[in-house]
Amino acid sequence: MERVVLITGGNRGIGLATAKVFAAKGNKVAITYRDTPPDGMEDFGIHSYSCDVTDEEHIDKTFKEVEETLGTVEILIANAGITRDSLAARTSNADFSEVLDTNLTGAFRTAKKALRGMMKNRWGRVIFVSSLSGRIGQIGQSSYAASKAALVGLSRSLAKEYASRDITVNVVAPGAIKTDMLEKLSENQINEYIKSIPLGRLGKPEEIGEIIAFLSSEHASYITGSVIPVDGGLYMG
Ligand SMILES: NC(=O)c1ccc[n+]([C@@H]2O[C@H](COP(=O)([O-])OP(=O)(O)OC[C@H]3O[C@@H](n4cnc5c(N)ncnc54)[C@H](OP(=O)(O)O)[C@@H]3O)[C@@H](O)[C@H]2O)c1
Repeated sequence: MERVVLITGGNRGIGLATAKVFAAKGNKVAITYRDTPPDGMEDFGIHSYSCDVTDEEHIDKTFKEVEETLGTVEILIANAGITRDSLAARTSNADFSEVLDTNLTGAFRTAKKALRGMMKNRWGRVIFVSSLSGRIGQIGQSSYAASKAALVGLSRSLAKEYASRDITVNVVAPGAIKTDMLEKLSENQINEYIKSIPLGRLGKPEEIGEIIAFLSSEHASYITGSVIPVDGGLYMG
């Protein structure tokens, strides 16, 4: 069924790959970018909107524009995220807050907005893009891991609050996926990391997109409050 899908941080990486998966399945897809809209989106039938998830006014404006052009958002993918990696002792309060404001509060802001329309429609899907780091912790990632772990508590609370309206809320927890986010690591670090992954390779962004699309589909109508790991078997907990 054709649905209106909004993906935050959809101009590159996992967000963009997910947008292409949804578009290929015939949905009406909106992505957000911050500075420059990505090229060639019209070839995929994907609509781009400028939005910074740390700014409530941007979010309000984006939802208004999407509603006017595509309709009420039925599926929200809260994907926008940043890292400010450093050992906890060297992490400034400002960096810690920036990561939380983007990864957690940004996801909350967009979900709260989307849920209003979903309530009226009595149907909806919210997917939060968390991370393996949020489940197992990572040296140098206290801010990032805290923000990603908190998405689980957020999603499970929302899952319970909105279940009676046929709205499901789930989390996808990717492992190491080949995007710009990994570019800060050296080739050596990546090769060492790969050695610990049972499937022996990094994940592809579209492998996350396909799981997100499944969770958003009618096939997943009895899954809510779940955390789905997509990490090549790195963490089997
Ligand atoms: N790659 C991995 O290994 C991995 C693993 C686990 C989880 N994840 C999660 O997956 C999601 C996507 O990451 P990625 O790997 O695709 O990384 P990426 O290529 O760095 O993309 C991050 C996206 O988030 C957007 N973004 C950042 N801050 C934003 C803000 N304040 N407002 C709106 N958009 C913002 C970026 O927009 P700009 O282009 O404007 O910066 C970009 O589109 C993130 O939540 C990340 O934590 C990634």
